[in-house]
Amino acid sequence: MYHLLELLLIAPLLLASFTMFHSRRGPCCGQPQADAGAAAQRLGPYTLGNKLGEGAMGEVYRAWNSAVGAWHAVKLLPRHASASDRRRFEKEARLGALVRHPNSVSIIEQAEERHGTCYYAMELLEGTSLQALVEREGPQPAARVARILGQLAAALAELHAQGLVHRDVKPDNVLLSSSGNELCKLIDFGLIEHVGALAEGQPEGTLIGTPLYMSPEAILAPQTVGPQSDLYALGAVGYFLLRGEPMFRASSLIEVCCHHLHSTPEPLELEPGDDCAAELERVVLDCLAKRPGDRPATSAEIARRLARWSVATPPGLRAVRGRRPSTAACPPSRPCPIAA
Ligand SMILES: Nc1ncnc2c1ncn2[C@@H]1O[C@H](COP(=O)(O)OP(=O)(O)OP(=O)(O)O)[C@@H](O)[C@H]1O
Ligand SMILES: [Mg+2]
Repeated sequence: MYHLLELLLIAPLLLASFTMFHSRRGPCCGQPQADAGAAAQRLGPYTLGNKLGEGAMGEVYRAWNSAVGAWHAVKLLPRHASASDRRRFEKEARLGALVRHPNSVSIIEQAEERHGTCYYAMELLEGTSLQALVEREGPQPAARVARILGQLAAALAELHAQGLVHRDVKPDNVLLSSSGNELCKLIDFGLIEHVGALAEGQPEGTLIGTPLYMSPEAILAPQTVGPQSDLYALGAVGYFLLRGEPMFRASSLIEVCCHHLHSTPEPLELEPGDDCAAELERVVLDCLAKRPGDRPATSAEIARRLARWSVATPPGLRAVRGRRPSTAACPPSRPCPIAA
């Protein structure tokens, strides 16, 4: 039974922040952003190719960088974005560029074109998201999950060491390399923030993050969100990979929030006698403690606990090199995906 007082406390918050929640759920709620690049098939040195994905904050395209002769990924802010969206986007690029780790996507540059299109370029990652992986293959073996979580914990440790919090760790925001080396990368700095700025308080009535991966404190006291909140999300990602389904089933936003505040997830029931599975289960459950202080002290600690099962991480996915975009990818007779 949910506490009446808490329900009263979070209900108005949930109503006020419905749009924000929705905005982090993906493209379904955003307007088609084709206008973003209508006049911008070329952006500085970049020639846009096919669309790689889209989310609440923009569309991401494969792009040929003629200045260096390499493929990159370019994220565009929709043209109709508000001034605050623009500030948020610039912050995403600026703070995201501070993050430098082999398991985090590298941002290369941010720019604004003469006609006002705001974009930034990053290394191009070839792979599949953890969300797509589970949808395709179901629950993942413990050894693989340990390798993935170990890498993510290392990426978070570097980000946290800079006083930053990611705030949107979720299976959609982790790409696993398709080259078979199990290298994974944390992407999407759309909600990244300095811990200090969070402590100063958030605009009233906002809930920020993705509900299924949101920590109890992100729901009840967003000004206390910090590195431990990312660890909670990391635990929820681990749970999702091991079970093949999210931690909680819920038919409404308020139900998900109440589960995060009060429910214990069902036991994982991993292979008995498997050392890796046993440690992994402990790591996941430790991260999922309701109170931040009861979670592991740092992401570096998690990375260390899982290091035994981690493969050596290569120095990062190299930029994908290749020929100029072929006419098949971007034929002059047919506009590129974002061209009018
Ligand atoms: N560097 C990259 N290389 C390849 N694909 C990428 C890259 N960055 C993003 N993508 C693809 O684009 C999609 C959207 O990117 P991103 O998550 O940054 O957008 P978003 O608008 O912040 O998303 P959301 O708010 O829905 O989480 C990703 O899910 C991924 O499929
Ligand atoms: Mg995303």
